Amino acid sequence: MQITLYQIVQVVLLGIILFYLVYYVYTVLFDKNYQPKDYKHSVKTGKIPLALRTAEKKYPDKVRFFNFWFQVERLKKENVQGAFAELGVYRGDSAYLLHLMDNKRTFHLFDTFEGFKTKDLKQESGKAATYTTSNFADTSIQKVKKRLSDPEFVFHQGYFPETTKGLENEQYALVSMDADLYNPTKAGLEYFYPRLSPGGVIIVHDYNHEWPGIVKAVDDFAASIREPIVPVPDVDSSVMIFKARKNIG
Ligand SMILES: C[S@@+](CC[C@H](N)C(=O)[O-])C[C@H]1O[C@@H](n2cnc3c(N)ncnc32)[C@H](O)[C@@H]1O
Repeated sequence: MQITLYQIVQVVLLGIILFYLVYYVYTVLFDKNYQPKDYKHSVKTGKIPLALRTAEKKYPDKVRFFNFWFQVERLKKENVQGAFAELGVYRGDSAYLLHLMDNKRTFHLFDTFEGFKTKDLKQESGKAATYTTSNFADTSIQKVKKRLSDPEFVFHQGYFPETTKGLENEQYALVSMDADLYNPTKAGLEYFYPRLSPGGVIIVHDYNHEWPGIVKAVDDFAASIREPIVPVPDVDSSVMIFKARKNIG
């Protein structure tokens, strides 16, 4: 029997596909080497709920996941008071994670739940310049409410920062900002930072060259506060903005 080049190529391709399939299944099921020691220990001692362990396995950006987890754990340890909030919720993926990490806090969710507004898109450059009002419009508040159904979640549907009316006296321990654009990022920092508890943290996603609007909003704001901003080496380069603790020592 004569083996053709075509058959050899087929066998090699099949071998490569099989190798990656086995490697993928092994990584998902058994390889936990990327997990930080304290997280592994918390899993072993039963402190991580099953839903969070499952979510961690599926979450594509492990550094972002563990940064959230370490910050939430720090807030508990330091007894930092206040609610959680997210500006830019979309379908609720990151809010879901953060709530699994601490389900006792009120969690304010700010989004149009219909995508971006034209008035925010107009002056954008970089990746955001390719956005239209259709991006992130494939969600709805009803769908997100089904997913984030615990009583701690408080929905604020509409254009941010108009949706902060009535929340002038709220206090925040952790805020996730993921609105992709200059206007809401600037408005978010101006609204949340003065209401951040001492020791609290704002985590802004997408602080990188592809999102010049976010970089500008963060850099302008950072120049007005005493605390340094702290980069996170996650896939999209988040940045953390802390509020200094009061009179230690
Ligand atoms: C990148 S998505 C958020 C992704 C989300 N954090 C997740 O975990 O999948 C950006 C969201 O910001 C929202 N957004 C942007 N500008 C806004 C504004 N001015 N007011 C309210 N929501 C806004 C959009 O509707 C969109 O859902």
